[in-house]
Order: sequence, then structure tokens, then C-alpha cells
Amino acid sequence: MQYTWSDIEQHISACTQCPLSRTRHLPVMGRGSHEAHIMLIAEAPGGQEDQQGLPFVGRSGEILDSLLKDCGLSREEIYITNILKCHPPGNRDPKEEEKEACLPYLKYETFLLKPRIIVCLGRVAAQRIISPDFRITRQHGTWTYRKNCALTAVYHPSAILRDPSKYEEAKRDFLEIVRMERESS
Ligand code: URA
Repeated sequence: MQYTWSDIEQHISACTQCPLSRTRHLPVMGRGSHEAHIMLIAEAPGGQEDQQGLPFVGRSGEILDSLLKDCGLSREEIYITNILKCHPPGNRDPKEEEKEACLPYLKYETFLLKPRIIVCLGRVAAQRIISPDFRITRQHGTWTYRKNCALTAVYHPSAILRDPSKYEEAKRDFLEIVRMERESS
């Protein structure tokens, strides 16, 4: 059976596959264009995302919007999602069992979107999606190819909040992502 976007959203809204369903306020489904060529994948919703049910609405969302704007992109032309759809209390790293429980949703999102480019935001996403030994400091901006999709990783916006000197590196990586996307169109 082929799920639709709204089927996935309904499943996520009612999900009780892991204990985070008991502590979350709202689950956070991916948002953006269902025609996008670029899919951004981060680790898990933060506190403000948990309150609003939307990805990247907090301070790291401001950094992300600024990076996108500097590279001529907007949220309307890309798709942004997380590995976990529920907020881990205290913003701790997602647990293995939480990631495994939530991964089918990401797989359905990826299947429906069929992105040409997947961008992992930060170490946790890069290690789950690209390679378990991915080193974000050394390997951000590098590319891996799988089937018809190019995968890369950039610094997580919250890492840029902690260390603003990472902004220019993330911007360079995003400019290359835009160049790759235009080349593939
Ligand atoms: N951090 C994330 O990893 N995801 C969000 O949606 C917001 C903050």
C-alpha cells in the first residue's frame, strides 16, 4: 500500500511507538515543498518546535533561515524534517531505540519526496544517515552518492549559535548545495 503525505502526518500525530510520545507536547512532522529537490534532515525537535508542532521555529530556525537567505533559498522550495518527530526532554541526544522507532516515518517522507540532495544538519543526522563514523568537523561539505541521491552534511544551526565562526563554513557548504541542485535540474 502506498501512503500519502497526509497518511504519514496522521500516523505521526497518533504515534506511541516510543516513550517520547508521553512527554511530547506536539509531534513535529516535516514541512516544506513536496516537490523539493533538497531535503534537510536534522536530529529532533527542540522545545519551541515541541510547543508549535513545526520544525526549526526557535533560535536555530533563525540561523537556518539566514543561511538559506544568504544562499538564495527559501523554506518554500525545500523540505525540512527530523529523524525524531518528538522532542527529547532537555534536548538530549536521541537514543538508538527512539531513532529506530521513528525511522520508518523518515523513510516514507524520503520515498514520497524522492529528493536529489539530502543535507544532514549536524553530527547526529549525519551519523545515522550517511555513516556511523561521520566526523562533522572534518567531513562537512563532502559528498556521498546513493542511487539517484547526493548526500552531504553541514553544521547544525545550534552549533553555529554556540560558535558563530562556523557560520561562514556552513554558508560555503550551502552555496555548493545550491550549485549542485541547479546543475542537476
Ligand atoms: N533542532 C533540530 O534538530 N530540529 C528542529 O526542528 C529544531 C531544532
